[in-house]
Amino acid sequence: MRGMLSPSLMCADVLNLQSEIEALDNLGVDYIHLDFMDGKFVPNITLDASLIRAVKSVLKNMKRDIHIMAYEPQQYFDRMDIGEGDIVAVHLEACDNVRDILSIIRKRGAKPFLAISPDTKAEVLNDYLDDIDGVLVMTVYPGFAGQPIVEGSFDKIAEVRQIIDNSGKNIILEVDGHVSWDLCHKMRECGADLFVAGSSSVYSKGMKIDEAVNKMMELIK
Ligand code: DX5
Ligand code: ZN
Repeated sequence: MRGMLSPSLMCADVLNLQSEIEALDNLGVDYIHLDFMDGKFVPNITLDASLIRAVKSVLKNMKRDIHIMAYEPQQYFDRMDIGEGDIVAVHLEACDNVRDILSIIRKRGAKPFLAISPDTKAEVLNDYLDDIDGVLVMTVYPGFAGQPIVEGSFDKIAEVRQIIDNSGKNIILEVDGHVSWDLCHKMRECGADLFVAGSSSVYSKGMKIDEAVNKMMELIK
């Protein structure tokens, strides 16, 4: 599977979101990464559900890659207008009944992804391989952009890759957190398919968005 790019909107110029989205949409970017935080599962609030819904109305080519860092994530699905083509990642650590929630996502025509934080062991995925279309491997602790990568992240990516390959299932491996210019290629070598690009790459200072996207696509292809 070719490497795919999902720039993180919370790292863009938040005073010009529509033009930021349209610029990406015209560059052939696969997904737009939309972080939702409830201030309880993580001590931060970012894009709200109505904005995540509004993004849908301006997309021409990109699909939504929605990362919900919240307890009881299903309470937001209607407000976000979750549906066909969306990736929806919910955290194993935030859900008592994650299998039911993954099934609701699938019934809405979206792709259920299971997000795992750095302290959650890769082998937990073995229990959910029939319930997911992807895994979101957090390479930083969820909640904030601009953090350094967590020690052991490359081994984690490789371990998840092994679990997916052994299953023989078509499950996407997404990485999120410090996907930087100098580390993204190593993440690709460890087995990542989908790359959330934030403040340490596509939205790092001083680069035009088209140059940054083209550089990233080259590094992850
Ligand atoms: C953090 C979010 C990430 C974040 C990535 O909790 O899930 O998507 O925006 O930002 P960087 O790339 O700066 O780590
Ligand atoms: Zn994210």
